Amino acid sequence: MAEAVAGADGVLAAAASGAVPGRGPGGVPATGPGGGARWHCLGPAESFRDGNPHGVRAFGTDLVAFAGRAGAVRILDARCPHMGGDLRGGRVVGDAIDCPVHQWRWDGSGRCIGGSPKLLPVRAWVTGERDGLLYVRAAEGAAS
Ligand code: FES
Repeated sequence: MAEAVAGADGVLAAAASGAVPGRGPGGVPATGPGGGARWHCLGPAESFRDGNPHGVRAFGTDLVAFAGRAGAVRILDARCPHMGGDLRGGRVVGDAIDCPVHQWRWDGSGRCIGGSPKLLPVRAWVTGERDGLLYVRAAEGAAS
């Protein structure tokens, strides 16, 4: 069985024989150059399921992580695309998060679902869980 481990640099790598290169936690396919995936471990997934937004930093980017009603943890850019509000200080509402500045609302896929006449999206990041740990995958063009 494939095992994946996160190194000190946050890179997720196949560790045992029979591993499936290019696959991250939960079998999420990787898209990195050469099939390699870059994953950053964010710690116990359960700690993100308290109904609050959590600020995290990975790949040189400030992010916000939150869990919806079903418990799936979603991760978005922390910077609001409207006027730069910090979503880490926002409010989780159902499966979405509100910006603390003008209360525009985004779902876990980054789609604006309320408050905005322009419906500006925010970047959403791929997540995965394995052995109770939450991982975020590097976005295209993300820093190392
Ligand atoms: S700054 Fe976020 S909604 Fe206006």
